[in-house]
Amino acid sequence: MYAITGATGHVGGAAARTLHARDLPVRRVVRDPAKAGAADAVADLTDPAALTEAFRGCDGAFVLIPPLPSGSDTEHRHMADTIATAVRDSGVGHVVALSSWGAQHESGTGPIRWLHHLEQALGGTGAVVTAVRSPHFQEKVEATLGAAAEGGIHPVFGDSADVPTTMVATRDIGRVAATALADPPATSEIVHLDGPEYTERQVAEKLGAVLGKPLDVALLAAELAEMYDAEARGLLQPAGDRQHRCVTELGDTLAALA
Ligand SMILES: NC(=O)c1ccc[n+]([C@@H]2O[C@H](COP(=O)([O-])OP(=O)(O)OC[C@H]3O[C@@H](n4cnc5c(N)ncnc54)[C@H](OP(=O)(O)O)[C@@H]3O)[C@@H](O)[C@H]2O)c1
Repeated sequence: MYAITGATGHVGGAAARTLHARDLPVRRVVRDPAKAGAADAVADLTDPAALTEAFRGCDGAFVLIPPLPSGSDTEHRHMADTIATAVRDSGVGHVVALSSWGAQHESGTGPIRWLHHLEQALGGTGAVVTAVRSPHFQEKVEATLGAAAEGGIHPVFGDSADVPTTMVATRDIGRVAATALADPPATSEIVHLDGPEYTERQVAEKLGAVLGKPLDVALLAAELAEMYDAEARGLLQPAGDRQHRCVTELGDTLAALA
């Protein structure tokens, strides 16, 4: 039996489907009881007792730190520690962890530092660990699909749209995870994933072709940097024929938005 966390998401979903397709037994671990089937377990990744039960009796488990709404360092590290506690207490022999390029570094890598923490925590559980270090996901374009479909824009959160970047499909990552679960290594290993390279301009071209309309690339970092620089240099000064003071307070606007 293989326990799969994040099974309603990209990589966990692909891992579960791959195992199913090979007629291997899968226990999807979901947090929402409404999403659980008869063979599934309900556990939140912040609940060590429920997660331990979900992993108990399994030959292997797939784990991840999902995107969390808060950027809280404590929350991310706590989730990594909770996962490791459940791996240790359940006695599951092999765990496949979704990690990232750069997870060899303890800090200086933004959110990737939490995947370093996860790898380290799992290393102390006694289980054999397969850390799957992925580059960028091709599916990250989902976050800006609305801007593309409705506004004809492909926003780029960098200084250039012409830097080749490795991007892999989450279905490929899920397959790697499933294969590792089905055929575990004798000792812990790190799997460095590689894949095709694209520039953001190529992403815009390919997405535009799929949507049936050309997309304009918007370099947000450069645009925002220039705007804040202009503000700092005092360029955003009053220059109208007359002035009008708007009176609505921020609190009223936020209350209306909420
Ligand atoms: N984006 C990148 O380029 C990149 C690169 C390398 C590594 N990564 C790693 O990949 C992760 C994202 O993987 P993904 O795209 O497969 O995730 P995803 O599609 O966003 O799915 C997240 C899954 O986690 C579940 N989940 C969220 N919070 C939970 C909780 N508190 N308890 C239990 N389950 C919970 C979700 O369940 P619900 O259905 O209930 O929401 C969902 O099944 C990132 O967080 C990062 O660690 C990302």
